[in-house]
Amino acid sequence: MHIIHIAAEMAPVAKVGGLADVVTGLGRALQKKGHLVEFILPKYDCMDYSRIKGLKVMDFDLFSYFNGEAFKNKVWRGVVEGLPVYFIEPLHPGRFFWRRSYYGCHDDFERFTYFCRAALEFLLKTNKRPDIVHCHDWQTAAVPPLYWDIYAPQGLNSAQVAFTCHNFEYQGAAPPASLNACGLHSHRYHRPDRMQDNFAPDRINLLKGGIVYSNIVTTVSPTYAQEVRGPEEGRGLHVTLGQHASKFYGVLNGIDNEVWCPSTDPLLEYQYSPDDLGGKFANKMALRARLGMSCTGADAEKPLVGCVTRLVPQKGVHLIQHAIYRTAELGGQFVLLGSSPVPHIQAQFEGVAREFENHPHVRLILKYDESLAHAIYGASDIFVIPSIFEPCGLTQLIAMRYGSVPVARKTGGLNDRYRILNLVQSGLNFALDRALGYFMESREWWTELVTKVMQMDFSWDKPCEEYIDLYQAALARRTVR
Ligand code: ADP
Ligand code: GLC
Repeated sequence: MHIIHIAAEMAPVAKVGGLADVVTGLGRALQKKGHLVEFILPKYDCMDYSRIKGLKVMDFDLFSYFNGEAFKNKVWRGVVEGLPVYFIEPLHPGRFFWRRSYYGCHDDFERFTYFCRAALEFLLKTNKRPDIVHCHDWQTAAVPPLYWDIYAPQGLNSAQVAFTCHNFEYQGAAPPASLNACGLHSHRYHRPDRMQDNFAPDRINLLKGGIVYSNIVTTVSPTYAQEVRGPEEGRGLHVTLGQHASKFYGVLNGIDNEVWCPSTDPLLEYQYSPDDLGGKFANKMALRARLGMSCTGADAEKPLVGCVTRLVPQKGVHLIQHAIYRTAELGGQFVLLGSSPVPHIQAQFEGVAREFENHPHVRLILKYDESLAHAIYGASDIFVIPSIFEPCGLTQLIAMRYGSVPVARKTGGLNDRYRILNLVQSGLNFALDRALGYFMESREWWTELVTKVMQMDFSWDKPCEEYIDLYQAALARRTVR
């Protein structure tokens, strides 16, 4: 099959969170199974260009339409982790992807609907006729309606469209007229069975369009697929999902075993494996030294609790904060790596970081840092993920692969892999107490546990097969929207 992913993130070049990992991981798994897989992304100014091989501008100008005008785009081709990627650079006066950040701009709706239109124009003009166009999240949710409304009638009709929603919290809603610019006329789409927002009827909702106009709709774990069928997690779209239930599936994410591999990871100071855990302790000592934490005498034996996360309400920020204090109280050490797009949450954690500035056992590092994230997975004994809701969650899988035992809430994808505690702080206390207690009381038992979790299979092998089955079934049905 020829599969084209259209996405706003792709690891490691343009990553905010797990979406980036999934786009690359699934893509590589599909490629390994012999499929032709290509990617279309915006060309952001803030990408990590050092991770793109052979980046070259293509020798044609792509014109795409916005607000009834034709704008020129440059298209760049490069290779990311062995995968061919086309990067679209709009020469639009809005300088849509020259913002030094991926999201959070006042015109995100406009920037990404522009990108959706340009991506399809690119497929049409370059005569690419894929079997599957696979889009992800609200940023690319205008692709399915644009595909069927504007591009299929022009001959770009070989494909079935798949749409994966990684998080129903982010939907891309705006006043209906905002939709017109990309060529979808709001008077056609602003209807309850199409793209009218279910909560705010005076708005248009891109995520809803992704659901209504795709041939296959998935989310990232079976538990979350159930949860979003209810009003709380579905955030209004539970009604739409009910109407489109026959094409809606929960496929549990995997992780890329080659990227996340403690025995080869170049970002670890010491590599290690389940058969030889010596390197894990060496990493723990190295991280403590790097962050100026105490590691001499009896302190060397303290358990190290890690947490790597976006600091947003979804992740249970109050519980994360509580876990820091509780761990210190129980005689453990804690390292948090996180950053927040929400100013008051960032400020709150900066306050906590200042409080622990000279503390021997606690460090908060409030930024995005790929290499430090790997070091924390490699060094920690316990990993805290007290999410309030979690569509899938990758950090618990990565942590286990690196022999760090997760303490997590039973929700979404966290429920599909293991279960430990419940929402309230006493639950977190109970689970942390237990985890730290086991670590300190029985090192032999702990080592057995670490060896066991490191050997669990979280690879893309099985989930990739599930996607292939869904793609093939959709192609066999060949429905038109
Ligand atoms: P989400 O996508 O909701 O943020 P996931 O668990 O699916 O959560 O994926 C998070 C990904 O982002 C993981 O690869 C994790 O290591 C990475 N990550 C999160 N915060 C940071 C950070 N501050 N620095 C480096 N990597 C981070
Ligand atoms: C979203 C979700 C996270 C999931 C990731 C990848 O960001 O918050 O739970 O793991 O997407 O699908």
